Amino acid sequence: MASEGYRIRPFRVEDLERVMEINFECLPENYSPSFYLDLHKRFPETFLVAELDGMIQGYVMSRIERGFSKFHVLKPTRLCHIVSIAVREPYRRRGIGTELLRSAMRNGREVYEAEECYLEVRVTNEPAIRLYQKLGFVRVKRNVAYYMDGEDAWVYAIPLKEIP
Ligand code: ACO
Ligand code: ZN
Repeated sequence: MASEGYRIRPFRVEDLERVMEINFECLPENYSPSFYLDLHKRFPETFLVAELDGMIQGYVMSRIERGFSKFHVLKPTRLCHIVSIAVREPYRRRGIGTELLRSAMRNGREVYEAEECYLEVRVTNEPAIRLYQKLGFVRVKRNVAYYMDGEDAWVYAIPLKEIP
């Protein structure tokens, strides 16, 4: 899956340190090594990295969950929860975030039979919100004081049949 000189591939255990570094650099929500390794072990096909210039420059990781549809009241649904996505600053606005997310969503649907994808995003995180809206995600609710510092989150979701 190469495009404009980058490659999207599954995360490998030896990528852990680099992915944790990118997460620290890009986001205030950070996780323990075992958190990453657990997601990789359980859902390897939706934990992806983007490589270019010989290094990983971005990642996406997800968890497949049983829950309720974000679109139909009380309909039991398999969900692909995007836990975290980031692309290093010098590599942004080249479509890498879009491609990471699309690939994780397609694999969530095709490998794990997820029907919908959802995620939380800080209400002030314009770049990420625009990315999700461009992909067709819709805002489904506001989670008040979702983050440790008290900021609210929007929950965005999309039916995976809408992802080409
Ligand atoms: N300003 C306005 N629109 C933007 C911006 C921005 N800074 N960044 C992306 N977009 C929109 C644009 O519509 C863009 O399309 P365009 O470039 O043709 O106009 C579209 O999103 C797609 O952008 P990509 O190039 O695919 O995204 P990128 O590779 O830059 O990655 C990301 C986006 C992951 C949000 C990046 O900015 C990042 O790592 N930010 C810091 C970490 C972060 O906020 N992650 C998301 C947290 S929420 C969560 O993880 C579930
Ligand atoms: Zn989440």
